[in-house]
Amino acid sequence: MNRLQGKKILVGVSGGIAIYKTLTLLSLLNKQGAQTRVVMTEGACQFVTPLTFQTMSKNKVYKDLFSEEDHFIPHIDLTRWADVFLIAPATANILAKMARGISDDLLSSTALAAHCPVLVSPAMNVVMYRNPATQENIQILRDRGIGIIEPDSGLLACDEKGEGRMPEAEDLARVLEDFFAPKDLVGTKILVTGGPTREMIDPVRFISNRSSGKQGIAIAREAARRGGEVTFVHGPLQAPVPKGVEDVPVTSTEDLYLALKDRFDGAQALIMAAAPADMTPVHYLDQKMKKEGKSGSFSLEFKETTDVLKTLGGQKKDQVLVGFAAETQSVEDYAKKKLKEKNLDFIVANDVSAQGAGFAGDTNIVTIFTKKDREDLPLQSKEEVAREILDRVVGLLQEREAGK
Ligand code: CTP
Repeated sequence: MNRLQGKKILVGVSGGIAIYKTLTLLSLLNKQGAQTRVVMTEGACQFVTPLTFQTMSKNKVYKDLFSEEDHFIPHIDLTRWADVFLIAPATANILAKMARGISDDLLSSTALAAHCPVLVSPAMNVVMYRNPATQENIQILRDRGIGIIEPDSGLLACDEKGEGRMPEAEDLARVLEDFFAPKDLVGTKILVTGGPTREMIDPVRFISNRSSGKQGIAIAREAARRGGEVTFVHGPLQAPVPKGVEDVPVTSTEDLYLALKDRFDGAQALIMAAAPADMTPVHYLDQKMKKEGKSGSFSLEFKETTDVLKTLGGQKKDQVLVGFAAETQSVEDYAKKKLKEKNLDFIVANDVSAQGAGFAGDTNIVTIFTKKDREDLPLQSKEEVAREILDRVVGLLQEREAGK
């Protein structure tokens, strides 16, 4: 199930041009099954009408400090209702009011009366953002335990460049997903791998495979969300590396092995979602191979690369070891064989030829095999598969801890 499903999110909007992103955010939150309510300032109403927000949140919008409704005190009851209060965009003005406890409108009064955790997404002109007054206010709020969502840097609406841009709606939705994640991996060192590796033939050519890295990225992100100390070792990816992880890019299978070898002893778990190339050219050509003199056909000799997981599985102490098996046939037989040969705690197998499973897409259909049983999971997003995997890793780590 979606992590935002059924969550009650109070969204505060103050008057900044980034407000259009908040509309997209509301749409994303509603699609994920969250309940949203919106508090607007006068300034916010200058940019977008309350009716637009009401339509996007599918709920009444609040802007007046006083209500005619029976037994309803907006600034108190709204945060009592909410699981979290996100203010996005948060202008320099609302940050200043919050830092000083000023409560002269509904948004600032709601912030002062908040029963629930508060997150703010500062968005403004770079000079206003860098002004010591704003920086001091942000620090005051941070020290009080308010979550500060760092603004992005780039070209701002005022045509100046620098920090102050509100993150995109998708990024803010991710912050909320982080917020609701259980913090059950705090203090745990986790190695995650993802993406393909490349074996160079000559300076311009390589062999590789179709892995996009998206499943590994989703696992690394989820592990970090849950408080893990994550090192993400990966080949070339088709999506960005998540925030909050140690980023270790590699090229070849040998690089991948070397990056993991030294880190494996100190880790509590290794989740091997990478698709390392199984073969590498016997001879690397220093100069680009030419087609002249080849009479229309080429042959190259390959040798096997290190089976990284099998090698580390042989050295395993009490780490939790998770492998993947991407197959096109006889999934169960091959997966069980790899589970045993690589000394894994469990293996996540999928038939990459099935619709909705495998490489470039955002979904996967996997079966998890342990030594004792199998569990067939439905078609899910790669984020959900990541959660399923980490739930099991946490379970195994807890069992190990209890057995000590
Ligand atoms: N793996 C690895 N090192 C390799 C190849 C694979 O560590 N050189 C890991 C993968 O990351 C995955 C698991 O082993 O977690 C299974 O990978 P897969 O490609 O499905 O199987 P292989 O062992 O390479 O066997 P085959 O290609 O014959 O199916």
